Amino acid sequence: MGGNVLNNFTIYVGCVPRTHCLVGLIACLWAVGITPYKVVREKGELMIETLLPGVQHLQNIHPLLVHFPIAFLVGATLFYFLAWIFRSNSLATSAFLILILGIISAAAAVGTGLYAEEGVMVSPSVREHLLETHEQFMLVTLGLTVFLTVWALMARPFPKKGRWLFLILFLVLLGIMTVGADNGARMVYDYNAGGNACSQPIEFTK
Ligand code: HEM
Repeated sequence: MGGNVLNNFTIYVGCVPRTHCLVGLIACLWAVGITPYKVVREKGELMIETLLPGVQHLQNIHPLLVHFPIAFLVGATLFYFLAWIFRSNSLATSAFLILILGIISAAAAVGTGLYAEEGVMVSPSVREHLLETHEQFMLVTLGLTVFLTVWALMARPFPKKGRWLFLILFLVLLGIMTVGADNGARMVYDYNAGGNACSQPIEFTK
């Protein structure tokens, strides 16, 4: 059908090559305001609206990514402890690979969090009490993850020297990440950060 229209169009304009017709057609559509960007954007929005109606309400993509570092860093800790208990090299290799996924996803979560920070709709008091604390805890989480990953890389997959400290630091990491994530969740569930269920801003109470 589309081919026929193009063929007829080609004959009509006097055997101009098909590619030229296509370029001309795009130029005409562009002139009346139908740009490829607009078409792709509108189609994309329609697809998201139909397939993932929850996603269209997001103010930013941070909430889509945050569960990955939490899962991978908990997983890496668990596998390193299992590798230590069962003295297993394959469990240690698995732990190391999960840690690599953990650092990649933590960097992505921090990047999207920093991007979300300025635009997210929260009152200055919530920003001060929860958002800033969340940010600090999560930056420390990333810093500690980088430190542990570099250590694990230098003595792949499971450092022998200082193993106790290595394992204890993983527990510290989980503690810091959990408290930080709890602050993030409080922003969302207590103060509607990034949501549109009720009006903003809600002042911090406790
Ligand atoms: C490892 C890094 C991080 C993790 C695991 C993390 C985790 C979380 C979690 C669990 C929530 C609650 C989301 C929900 O329940 O829907 C949240 C929300 C939020 N976080 Fe983070 N976060 C990280 C880094 C950051 C950083 C560095 C910032 C910068 C300030 C930040 C800013 C925010 C904001 C603004 C929200 C409110 C929801 C929204 O994005 O609209 N996060 N975060």
